[in-house]
Amino acid sequence: MARARPAHAVPSVAAYDAVVVGGGLYSGHWHKDARRFVRHHRKALAERPLWFFSSGPLDASAGERDIPPVPGVKKAMGRLDARGHATFGGCLEQGAKGWVARMILRNEQGGDFRDFDRIRAWAARIGRELTE
Ligand SMILES: Cc1cc2nc3c(=O)[nH]c(=O)nc-3n(C[C@H](O)[C@H](O)[C@H](O)COP(=O)(O)O)c2cc1C
Repeated sequence: MARARPAHAVPSVAAYDAVVVGGGLYSGHWHKDARRFVRHHRKALAERPLWFFSSGPLDASAGERDIPPVPGVKKAMGRLDARGHATFGGCLEQGAKGWVARMILRNEQGGDFRDFDRIRAWAARIGRELTE
């Protein structure tokens, strides 16, 4: 069974056999909740099969090529021996908070670029790797 939980709501990963950590990208860094989660649980994460993903690009690029992890995420992958990483398109829609978000929306550069088929296919590969 797989559970999807917000990073800030997971006090321990002891009950999980494997972990997938994802973070939204903000100015070239993961959202602070994802960074904090990895820092806080680093020991337990290093002992488990681990994958990372990032959500960011507000265009079609994530579906056209493999976008590598940002430097901070790449470093954490090395330290914790993560098995893989994927970058998925992001989502920024009306109502998003912050002046940068409002500016992006005003310039009509927002939108929903999540590709759920690609996300599902990536998750299914992880499921297979864990059960094979
Ligand atoms: C202030 C701000 C900075 C952003 N910086 C980046 C960035 O550096 N790289 C990127 O790919 N996307 C960037 N984005 C787009 C977000 O990553 C995208 O909206 C993502 O879906 C956010 O994920 P979340 O809603 O799960 O937090 C930025 C968005 C905002 C509002």
